[in-house]
Amino acid sequence: MDGSLDGKTAVVTGAGSGIGKAAARMLAENGVRVGLFDMDTSALEQTAAEIAKAGGSAMAVKVDVTDSSQLKQGYRQVLDAFGRLDIVFANAGINGMLSPIEHLSDEDWDKTLGTNAKGTFLTVKFAIPHMKERGGSIIITSSINGNRTFSGFGMSAYSASKAAQTAFGKMAALELSAYRIRVNIVCPGGIETNIDERTKKDEEHLAEITIPKIFPEGQHPLKGRPGKPEDVASIVCFLASDASGHMSGSVLYADGAETLL
Ligand SMILES: NC(=O)c1ccc[n+]([C@@H]2O[C@H](COP(=O)([O-])OP(=O)(O)OC[C@H]3O[C@@H](n4cnc5c(N)ncnc54)[C@H](O)[C@@H]3O)[C@@H](O)[C@H]2O)c1
Repeated sequence: MDGSLDGKTAVVTGAGSGIGKAAARMLAENGVRVGLFDMDTSALEQTAAEIAKAGGSAMAVKVDVTDSSQLKQGYRQVLDAFGRLDIVFANAGINGMLSPIEHLSDEDWDKTLGTNAKGTFLTVKFAIPHMKERGGSIIITSSINGNRTFSGFGMSAYSASKAAQTAFGKMAALELSAYRIRVNIVCPGGIETNIDERTKKDEEHLAEITIPKIFPEGQHPLKGRPGKPEDVASIVCFLASDASGHMSGSVLYADGAETLL
């Protein structure tokens, strides 16, 4: 990085694991003070400890991004501790239940859309009062699913939530330009994180709707393997920094060209 991140303050949601954790660590390495939001307290503490050990500055706050009052309170704590807010990485998300539409319950639909789409809306909404005077950068984690890929069988709710995040991010980019707040969207392909362990699958019915896709060696064309959380984190650092100062409303794919197959 060119040092333009140094001295800034960020909030990262989903900071206890995977992409959020890698981004929080990399931002901290670049001199950013980081508010870590996640529902998982012990994972949060682990991220905070790793950042402190590496000489960075972070504070862990238990926040469920679907809960307005927890988010408001979380931002308040970060502002009280660090005094300003320059960067928000709206990243917390779940795959939720993978199921054919016919068998997907409305509760499972609500859970996925509630976490990914509404959670992003609330994360952005409650950041605005703290960013509108000075401007800043908001980055949203969407996905290849719902944007370039529509063959994640059983992922209709997830893909809808990810398309919603992209549309919302572009609306926000235009609306918040009045405050010099930039909003950009990153769409990862397959990244090695803990998300699959938390994914529920209606295996019996999924078999009924799955169309075989045969990917030989080329499934991950660029490196022959899925990405690492750090492959997304470095893009987040770029989007957070002044190096991307003329970018807003952009969608960046971090997928090793897998969606071009
Ligand atoms: N891993 C991939 O292949 C991949 C690909 C494309 C997009 N994504 C997106 O990246 C983002 C991060 O996923 P990841 O792969 O790092 O997953 P992960 O499961 O490793 O980490 C997600 C973190 O978010 C937290 N979280 C979940 N719901 C929350 C809530 N309501 N409030 C606060 N925290 C919550 C979890 O506790 C967890 O620590 C998600 O939005 C996901 O959709 C991931």
